Amino acid sequence: MKELRIGLLGFGVVGRGVVDLLLTQTALLRERTGVTLRLVRIATRTPQRDRGLDLGAVELTADVDRVVAADDIDVVIELIGGLEPARSLVLKALQQGKHVVTANKALIATHGEMLVSQAAAVGRELLFEAAVAGAVPVIKVLRESLAANRVDQIYGILNGTCNYILTEMREKGVSFAAVLKEAQAKGFAEADPSFDVDGIDAAHKLAILAAIGFGSFPRFDQIHIEGIRHVSDVDIQWANEMGYRIKLLGIAKQDAGGVELRVQPTLVPVTGMVASVEGVFNAVFIRGDFSGTTMYYGRGAGERPTASSVVADLVDIARNNRVDNLQRVASFSTLPEYLATYPVRETDDWQGEYYLRLAVADRPGVLAEVTAVLARQQISIDAIHQKGRSAVEAVPLIMVTHATTERQVRAALAEMEQLDAVRETPRFIRIEPSFI
Ligand SMILES: NC(=O)c1ccc[n+]([C@@H]2O[C@H](COP(=O)([O-])OP(=O)(O)OC[C@H]3O[C@@H](n4cnc5c(N)ncnc54)[C@H](OP(=O)(O)O)[C@@H]3O)[C@@H](O)[C@H]2O)c1
Repeated sequence: MKELRIGLLGFGVVGRGVVDLLLTQTALLRERTGVTLRLVRIATRTPQRDRGLDLGAVELTADVDRVVAADDIDVVIELIGGLEPARSLVLKALQQGKHVVTANKALIATHGEMLVSQAAAVGRELLFEAAVAGAVPVIKVLRESLAANRVDQIYGILNGTCNYILTEMREKGVSFAAVLKEAQAKGFAEADPSFDVDGIDAAHKLAILAAIGFGSFPRFDQIHIEGIRHVSDVDIQWANEMGYRIKLLGIAKQDAGGVELRVQPTLVPVTGMVASVEGVFNAVFIRGDFSGTTMYYGRGAGERPTASSVVADLVDIARNNRVDNLQRVASFSTLPEYLATYPVRETDDWQGEYYLRLAVADRPGVLAEVTAVLARQQISIDAIHQKGRSAVEAVPLIMVTHATTERQVRAALAEMEQLDAVRETPRFIRIEPSFI
């Protein structure tokens, strides 16, 4: 019976899950592939550290070359994370004739196009299902099940830490800072949470989804990225009262004019499916011209869920190897020679409805001054809410616009900020309709 000999780089959270899965489900994986998936060696910085697993004959080393350049390894799994040395190690592994599986979204979002063409040049596979939404099998779906569609929209909740924080802020009525502290204590957020809460992690995943969905690899700096640090508990409570939830959405849209790529806090109607995705869960929505909108939901991170997707890629390689049919599915779905470059739309040109929040002096005539600014910018209003009376403190004035451009909204808010009655920098949040 054939064997697929596996070398692992990195023995952290995901690495441990992959090792556990490979060692405990060997028979099941053989029944499904006809191949023995044999973990030969693990290279990690601290091989001596006890991970609480019985490794049997698996060798541990601190020497990464014993994985990427060894003759007795067919597939390298990269679970170190970050750009370097991961990029160099993946390149070296491919050049040494190994297939590569990775969960590294930063690496694929930044260097994916180069790495995939390198893999194609040497006739090896580079797979990365676990890089987007953990256990949720969205890459395979987009590459294979939806391959007959033109996809014009991909959006979703791509970061469980942010979704957990926003959910807790709403349910408990507490601030961002308080929930973040608690999430760190529970291990849901990193000690340095910036990659998650500033939207970078979600943007990496969005770049990968957009590349597969649209057949055009975006430059990472073309993605508009906003995190959730500035979302206040006041915004969350107001959104709630008006029938919305605030979610950090990754949104990729494509039409004849180009593509729109953004990660930002967004108001979504409470009646839609995306609003019901709570806590650490992820969900991805994909709209195809024939399929309509489909939704994929599940755990977006964690040792076992992420290992499930890493090993699914190994299964693909084992099956493809068996029938001598490597590269059956192009890594970004579209064959490399057909990957195109589309114009990316400027943030100012985005069209949509907006939630606006001002802190204003509670005196007669203020509303008229504010609405005069909106009229000058030709922004029409769907709803206005004002609550509370205070002779000394500013009170919130909340407005929801009809469809307008972000250019008009920014211009109106800049003008409003100059008004004597407006006491803080006005805030705005995009509203997205719900497609399912
Ligand atoms: N955690 C998740 O839920 C999750 C979900 C989806 C995708 N991912 C992705 O999966 C990858 C791994 O994440 P993780 O959470 O497992 O990270 P992690 O717990 O920090 O583990 C990283 C591992 O890499 C090892 N390492 C770091 N630098 C190294 C080097 N220069 N040479 C050899 N080994 C090195 C570390 O070694 P020592 O332990 O020996 O110091 C550690 O074992 C990342 O790309 C991440 O974005 C993670």
